[in-house]
Amino acid sequence: MRVLTGIKPTGTIHLGNLVGAIRPALRLADAGGEAMYFIADYHALTTVQPPDHTAADMDRLVHEIAAAWLACGLDPERVTFYRQSDIPELFELTWILQCFTSKGWMNKAHAYKALIADREGDDVDAGINMGVYGYPMLMAADIVAFDIDQVPVGKDQVQHVEIARDIAQRINSAYGSELLRLPAAKLEEHAAVLPGLDGKKMSKSYGNVIPLFAPAKQLEKMIMKIATDSTPPDAPKDPETSTIFQIYRAVASADETRALAERYRSGIGWGDAKKLLAARVETEVAPARARFDALMADPTQIDALLAAGAAKARPIARRTLDRMRRAIGIAR
Ligand code: ADP
Ligand code: TRP
Repeated sequence: MRVLTGIKPTGTIHLGNLVGAIRPALRLADAGGEAMYFIADYHALTTVQPPDHTAADMDRLVHEIAAAWLACGLDPERVTFYRQSDIPELFELTWILQCFTSKGWMNKAHAYKALIADREGDDVDAGINMGVYGYPMLMAADIVAFDIDQVPVGKDQVQHVEIARDIAQRINSAYGSELLRLPAAKLEEHAAVLPGLDGKKMSKSYGNVIPLFAPAKQLEKMIMKIATDSTPPDAPKDPETSTIFQIYRAVASADETRALAERYRSGIGWGDAKKLLAARVETEVAPARARFDALMADPTQIDALLAAGAAKARPIARRTLDRMRRAIGIAR
């Protein structure tokens, strides 16, 4: 069983990413199968480009995301960890897959559909590049190149994996049923959704995030900004409706969480609850932050790890591409 996770380097990592994406994905490596993780830098290029971003931003985002995963426990000795752009076979394979993808499917791919949903008139496609439109086909290549069985994803990516499966099926029925392994999406239904400073889902698009590797002082300052109501300090409080409590639960042990719930019921001031949370988050992230800072201080270490990962991954993609080329009559 081989599983694959793609990580798009589009922004600074926050606590929601840790809880909802990094931790569940890293647990997969413990499940016994073979796990592959890669930085989808060419997928990021669909949006990480001028005028909003510079080339230096791209470089920083790739290194930050790689350092974040490594700091959070990704072990490059046990799993294969690489950069998409280091596997040129993927882009040749993408072309082949494109020739077996109906344009109608791409019109219906929901990331693209969502972008044009509220638009009217002649130019619904204004500002949409072909990378955005063709995104699912590169993603399909990412998957089928490595004979992947399962792709663990959030709800928003399920359709992309289904598209990959459809394309692979179409090619198999054209050239032979054993050609490409058919991947399945594994929906991470139970991954918690962490609220942000304002109580809405923590997301960089809402500007309500707690960055994972902010310095301790800044972390505390942000946590003190979490929105609360005006219940007096000694009044009993419901932990379940409290943002502070939900974030605490995501980082603390079951015993610690129970203890805080007790204090909520007997009355705790919001200021005190925030201080407890800030201290707990700090103990949780401090060791990973130290590893993150050390990696970012010497990005060549990160590059070397990713290059070693690509050296492991590339021969697999090469074999798939050669098999495809022979099947379609481009090579003997
Ligand atoms: P953002 O919402 O900040 O733009 P992304 O869309 O880049 O984050 O998400 C990257 C990964 O982190 C996805 O797998 C997503 O499901 C997960 N994630 C993002 N925000 C949260 C959150 N608040 N709670 C749980 N998981 C989250
Ligand atoms: N599209 C994914 C995202 O936006 C990232 C990704 C690219 C991916 N290629 C993949 C995920 C292959 C799983 C498998 O988060």
